[in-house]
Amino acid sequence: MTDAVSVQNGADRLALREPMPRAQAEPLSREILDLKRELNAVILAHNYQVPEIQDVADFVGDSLGLSQQAAKTDADVIVFCGVHFMAETAKILNPDKTVVLPDKDAGCSLEESCPANKLRELQQSNPNFWTVAYINCSAEVKALSDVICTSGNAVRIVAAAPPDRDLLFVPDENLGAWVMEQTGRPMTLWRGNCYAHVEFRRDGILRLRRSFPDAKVVVHPESLREVRDLADAVCSTERMIDYCKTSPAKQFVIVTESGIIHRMQKECPGKEFLCAPAFDVMRMPSDNCRCSECKYMKMNTLGKLRDCMKRLAPRIELPEDILKRARLPIERMLEISARPQK
Ligand code: 13P
Ligand code: SF4
Repeated sequence: MTDAVSVQNGADRLALREPMPRAQAEPLSREILDLKRELNAVILAHNYQVPEIQDVADFVGDSLGLSQQAAKTDADVIVFCGVHFMAETAKILNPDKTVVLPDKDAGCSLEESCPANKLRELQQSNPNFWTVAYINCSAEVKALSDVICTSGNAVRIVAAAPPDRDLLFVPDENLGAWVMEQTGRPMTLWRGNCYAHVEFRRDGILRLRRSFPDAKVVVHPESLREVRDLADAVCSTERMIDYCKTSPAKQFVIVTESGIIHRMQKECPGKEFLCAPAFDVMRMPSDNCRCSECKYMKMNTLGKLRDCMKRLAPRIELPEDILKRARLPIERMLEISARPQK
């Protein structure tokens, strides 16, 4: 299988974005590695970043792994290849370090769905609320929250919440609904979603299942329930990779952003990964359809990564009080995640 995976499945052809040509990527990558040494920088990249960024990063992982790395780095500069809220989290954990990201406009539909003033209003409606915020939210929202979670630890975090409090889960209603199913704990859910994951539909997955009956279906919990219900495993991006590594199966239908396929191919030789179609049968364009991509994650390019290291900008700056207040719920999350598993 080459880097440009294509899945031939009836009338539909799903193609991964072509990787940057080697002749273009190599000189940029060399420059980036030189800058990294000069700056004493660490490059952290999310699993959805383009392959050429993943390949120069010091660490590639999910939101939990990236926060853990940010919490322990001794680099002077953190170069965060992900979306804005991820770089903000790194800054909150490292207020005295320089944190840059390749494109400051790399946002997130979940973050946008939950403005801090609206959250404050809702919180005021019930003084007994205990707010669990998915890490995909702004620093202001983190500062209003009691604890942060990621898709990798949400079940543990909610299970550890005080039993006498009413739980308010923001901003992802799909992740929240899945966590309620797993823990049996009722929660008030904020009505936000990931614009990319809600494009996966039952019909498209069922069709792939029929064509590849032995394939395991691995789904991110930001997906709709109709899709989660078809899954062999529902988990964070990092656990998806672990699942594919350890499963005896040879084929997997991957229901998340297609950038993850790069690591899966590198780390699971001999296995085949099928990108789930991002639209249902009726809405799917027949020929040039791509596997699901997050337009925000894909704003970062190798060229912009080099530029942000050269200019040390765009840089994350946050007001002092937000930095202080947002840190506590993140540290609470890291502490709960570090507890030995029962
Ligand atoms: P993970 O923490 O599972 O990598 O998820 C991050 C994300 O933004 C998913 O859309
Ligand atoms: Fe946000 Fe969805 Fe993109 Fe993840 S995939 S960063 S949740 S918009």
